[in-house]
Amino acid sequence: MKYGTSTAGSFNYHYFKAVGSTNDTLAELARNNAPEWTVVLADHQTNGRGRYRRNWDSPAGLGMWASLLLRPAFDSRLLNLVNLLVANTMATVLEQLAASVQQQMDTGLKWPNDVWVGDKKICGILPESSFSGQKLQYIIVGVGLNINQSISEFSEDLQPIATSLKIETGREWPVKLVMTRFLETFRQQYSELFPNQTGKILDDYRKKMLFKNETVNLLLNDQTISAVIRDIDDDGFLEVEHGGQTKVINSGEFRVQPVRVN
Ligand code: BTN
Repeated sequence: MKYGTSTAGSFNYHYFKAVGSTNDTLAELARNNAPEWTVVLADHQTNGRGRYRRNWDSPAGLGMWASLLLRPAFDSRLLNLVNLLVANTMATVLEQLAASVQQQMDTGLKWPNDVWVGDKKICGILPESSFSGQKLQYIIVGVGLNINQSISEFSEDLQPIATSLKIETGREWPVKLVMTRFLETFRQQYSELFPNQTGKILDDYRKKMLFKNETVNLLLNDQTISAVIRDIDDDGFLEVEHGGQTKVINSGEFRVQPVRVN
C-alpha cells in the first residue's frame, strides 16, 4: 500500500506502508525511467533481503528500510567505491546523531559495507546494479538501518549480534529524520567526491575498517579459507594474506566472517 510521493529536498520520495523489498520496488521504478535520487521508503518489508539472499528483518516503524537510485555517468570501475561511501556516510551520520544527544558512538566498518557499533551490526547495505552490455545503467543502494528496536525486539538469533540507534543512544528517533540526514549527507559527499576525489573515500574507510591484521574466515560456497585482513586496494577490494601471498577479493567472491573468540 502506497502512502504517497514527494520531492522534498530534491529527492523523489515514494513512501509505502509495506512492500516486499524496497530494492525490488525501486528496480521497477528504475526500469520505468525514474530519475536519479529517487528513494523508496517502507514502514515494513515482507520480504526484506540481505546479502547472500539472507532474510532481512524489517519490522514496521523500527528501522529505515529504504532504497536509493543512482545513475552514475562515471566508469563502472568506481562502483565499489560508491558502496564504501554509503558505509562511510552512515557511520558519520550515526556518530553525529549520537553526539547531538550527548552520547558517544564509535562506529566501525566490516568490509565491504556493514556498519557496526562495538561488536554488533547496526546497518547493512545491499547494492544492486543493472548493466546494458558493459554500460552501467543504474545502481540501487538498499539500506537497512536498525533504529528503534529494543534488544527484546530482535529475534533470538539476532540479539547477540545486532544493535539499534535506540539501544546505543537511549532514545527513540523519527525514521524520516534519520533518513533525511543520511540522504542529504550522502548526496553532498557523492557530488563532491565522484569521480575525481575518490581517494578521500578510501582514506575515510581505512580509518574505520574493522579486523585489520586479524585472521578471518573467507567463505566461498562450501569452501572456507583462513586469511589475515591487510587493507583495501584503490578499487575498494579487500587485500588479504593467505598462505604467504597477498590475495585481492571482491565483494561478490567471498563472505568475510570474523573469527570470534568467546
Ligand atoms: C545485509 O547486510 O545483508 C544487507 C541488508 C540490506 C537490507 C536493506 S533494507 C532496504 C533494502 N531492501 C531490501 O530488501 N534490502 C535492503
